[in-house]
Amino acid sequence: MAGEQNNIDDLLLENRKFPPPVDFQKNALVAGTFLYDEARADDEGFWARQAAELLHWDTDWHTICEWNLPYAKWFVGGQLNVSFNCLDRHVLAGRGDKVAIHWEGEPGDTRTITYAQLLDETKKFANVLKSLGVAKGDRVNIYLPMVPEAAVAMLACARIGAAHSVVFGGFSSQALADRINDASAKVLITADGGYRRGEVFALKPAADEALANTPTIEHVVVVKRGGNDVNMVDGRDHWYHDLMAEASLDCPAEPMDSEQLLFLLYTSGTTGKPKGIMHTTGGYLTHVTYTHKYVFDLHPESDVYWCTADVGWITGHSYIVYGPLSNGATQVIYEGVPNFPGNDRLWSIVEKYGVTIFYTAPTAIRTFMKWGDQEPAKHDMSSLRLLGSVGEPINPEAWMWYRDTIGRGTCPVVDTWWQTETGGIMISPLPGATTLKPGSATFPLPGITAEVVDESGARIDHGGGYLTLTRPWPGMLRGIWGDPERYKETYWSRYGDRYFAGDGAKLDADGYLWLLGRVDDVMNVSGHRISTTEVESALVSHPAVAEAAVVGANDATTGQAIIAYVTLRGGSSVDEGDLRNHVAKEIGAIAKPKTIYFTPELPKTRSGKIMRRLLRDVAEGRNLGDTTTLADASVVNELQKRAAEAPSED
Ligand code: PRX
Repeated sequence: MAGEQNNIDDLLLENRKFPPPVDFQKNALVAGTFLYDEARADDEGFWARQAAELLHWDTDWHTICEWNLPYAKWFVGGQLNVSFNCLDRHVLAGRGDKVAIHWEGEPGDTRTITYAQLLDETKKFANVLKSLGVAKGDRVNIYLPMVPEAAVAMLACARIGAAHSVVFGGFSSQALADRINDASAKVLITADGGYRRGEVFALKPAADEALANTPTIEHVVVVKRGGNDVNMVDGRDHWYHDLMAEASLDCPAEPMDSEQLLFLLYTSGTTGKPKGIMHTTGGYLTHVTYTHKYVFDLHPESDVYWCTADVGWITGHSYIVYGPLSNGATQVIYEGVPNFPGNDRLWSIVEKYGVTIFYTAPTAIRTFMKWGDQEPAKHDMSSLRLLGSVGEPINPEAWMWYRDTIGRGTCPVVDTWWQTETGGIMISPLPGATTLKPGSATFPLPGITAEVVDESGARIDHGGGYLTLTRPWPGMLRGIWGDPERYKETYWSRYGDRYFAGDGAKLDADGYLWLLGRVDDVMNVSGHRISTTEVESALVSHPAVAEAAVVGANDATTGQAIIAYVTLRGGSSVDEGDLRNHVAKEIGAIAKPKTIYFTPELPKTRSGKIMRRLLRDVAEGRNLGDTTTLADASVVNELQKRAAEAPSED
């Protein structure tokens, strides 16, 4: 309960434990504590060993880490090429014929791309970029659907030392223009269109609108995918296939400084203009290669890995492009939505390609729960051996459903906590070594130190507080493009020399970490600071509930009152009073929602995070602020209408 300090309450008690299955452990890369022990003794030495073992360096570094708070440099003096590490070295080692990408288009068309083919495409496209005047240090914008050319474009930039800035294909022309202008990008790579829910969505017209206000763009490369009509501006716009037909295959990978800018990726945040998060070369590649290998217990010779993210998010950068390719993995990339042509599309892909490792987001998992157990039951998914989750706290019941229904009750589930800013996974189980608890991201990975602090910044070892990172790590952001003050202010001003992630977290009696959501979302009810995550998890633990979002709305009596928005599982129903009592029973009367609205959908960002800020506006009857990052704006309109009509509960 609320302590002396103004901390976040610790309400939810979860006692289920799952040690690594014996069968899994037998072949696991890590089954004991040796990585943890080594990293604890000397974290910089540990990272240096990872960098040396996992990557090919053209020049050795002279300094492992240079730390001038809040700026880190890793493997200083070292040189390497990211695309060489992701492609050439596998081909040189005789693995050119290994499949890098099983690509499946939404309409069902497929492409199988080997490492040798991906390398050839990348070399040619690197030459295309050069021919368009792109040089080391320039910025290139990428606005593409989920087609293999997205990976080719990113790797080609890396090959020549240009930084890419990928903008999610679902974003508006305004969002694209803002990002192009902030980065002063020289070239834009886009497509005519892509497939979504059985139809072609046009991208080039949106790009054209943006291009009316982006003076730095000199050339536009257009991939043909949708087949829709597009307007090509003479001299500026070029078809990808035309340029590639002319391009030379000769493009040696040039060694880059370890701290060469690899990419910018913009995060929206809840307020202000998007931040261009900067990631560099050597540290980032070390971090994503290491985490992809050990968190997913990757056996590249036998595993088929599939991450369902879009390449427009950091998960797509780190765990579709750079981590898996650096490790020489075989992976699936799917273009479209999970419910086309039916709600079982993902499971049919798992069966078709024999996917062994599956990585997705809690929002997707809760949607699958809503669609019902009969969908995965249509397919043989016995190839799966490991499941992963990222993007939001995963409610214990969603975790159990994932493990039982997708993972046959035997696959370990790795809940991975990290951020665009951290570059790679920070807190996660190692599946052959860690005893799991449903809903807990468990422990910082070897090499990472995370601590929970109270309001005053003092470390706490039990209960709720604020998540901080205490040591620099190789994949950490190197700043915000063009805004060093904002970098310091956002991440380094609240708790002294600690990186503040903006998330609440708690430590249980066994030292397990539980993420409690963004601290901006924490509710204050009669002086108790209650995490949205814990109340949502209590709601989701009711068998009728698939998904829930709660917010604190101003309340004359209690300061804030808990308002819940609940989506039921297919075919279920429940009485509002029963559900309120269920929460009281699970985590205490203080956390009982004052009002519950039932809704078929929750408002989410395009990356699937619940937009609690909007729900707060709805609950408090305010005009809605910016809704442009919303995946489906009609959802909030509907909720707003109902909030206005709802009788007062008290
Ligand atoms: O609040 C945390 C949540 O997502 C935030 C980072 O979002 P983004 O930069 O978009 O990156 C998402 C993919 C890494 C975090 O501050 N988050 C991410 N993973 C988890 C999570 N919250 C709880 N548990 C997680 N596993």
